[in-house]
Amino acid sequence: MLGYKPLTKSIDFIFADPPYNLSGKNYLTCKNGKVAICNKGEWDEIEDIHKFNRQWLESCIRVLADDGTIWISGTLHNHPSVGVLLKKLGLWIINDIIWYKPNAAPLLQGNRFAPSTELIWLASKSKKYFFNYELARELNGGKQMRNLWTLSATRHLTIHPTEKPESLMQRIISIGSKEGNTVLDPFMGSGTTGVVAKQLGRNFIGIEIDQSYFDIATQRIDNAVREPSLFVPSQSKSNARHCQLSLS
Ligand SMILES: C[S@@+](CC[C@H](N)C(=O)[O-])C[C@H]1O[C@@H](n2cnc3c(N)ncnc32)[C@H](O)[C@@H]1O
Repeated sequence: MLGYKPLTKSIDFIFADPPYNLSGKNYLTCKNGKVAICNKGEWDEIEDIHKFNRQWLESCIRVLADDGTIWISGTLHNHPSVGVLLKKLGLWIINDIIWYKPNAAPLLQGNRFAPSTELIWLASKSKKYFFNYELARELNGGKQMRNLWTLSATRHLTIHPTEKPESLMQRIISIGSKEGNTVLDPFMGSGTTGVVAKQLGRNFIGIEIDQSYFDIATQRIDNAVREPSLFVPSQSKSNARHCQLSLS
């Protein structure tokens, strides 16, 4: 959002899917069944990834409410940097979620394990934060939800190279926020977070540097509709609560 500066502590929930810094000649991928240099776009080639991560994380911390949470996705290319910064900047790391993609692209080089996971950091500013534990359990068939999530990568709906599946965002936003909350995505891309925020009745602020992606996201969000039955089982609605950790 150009020229818009959210107020300090005005955001209930942040999902950040930042550049992973995995593009460039040192990173190979599988494209149409062949080995190719990974190229997500210029935005993914960052000289000093740690400095970049620090800058946007500091801004997110400024706007996040005291009982809000921030969820940050990544791979081995950026998650060590983000993890160190979360600690350094005084955040409380609640979980590291491993998103396992059983249908991830195969590895053609034959020199390592086939990458098929992403890591999602979940952190807060204080030990009292909103987390819909009951809903998580309900979504998991009545059993405690673990931090290993098996969710297939889905066919992209837009031309954006790193579009997240709506199913992943539905789980994250429904567990991490309440109806009427304000959700921020500082790296909006194709707008998946905004689409799901709207489906779930949350307010949404998205930031995106690339005008063409911004336009795609805006159109996608405009077309999204509220889906009242999505992830609102009757019981968990009343049981949604703040979690207060007793450990220091
Ligand atoms: C990993 S993608 C996000 C994809 C998104 N989660 C989706 O589902 O489409 C990161 C996005 O951040 C944008 N970006 C990179 N640097 C940025 C910056 N400094 N400010 C805002 N957006 C930026 C890129 O253009 C890219 O679209």
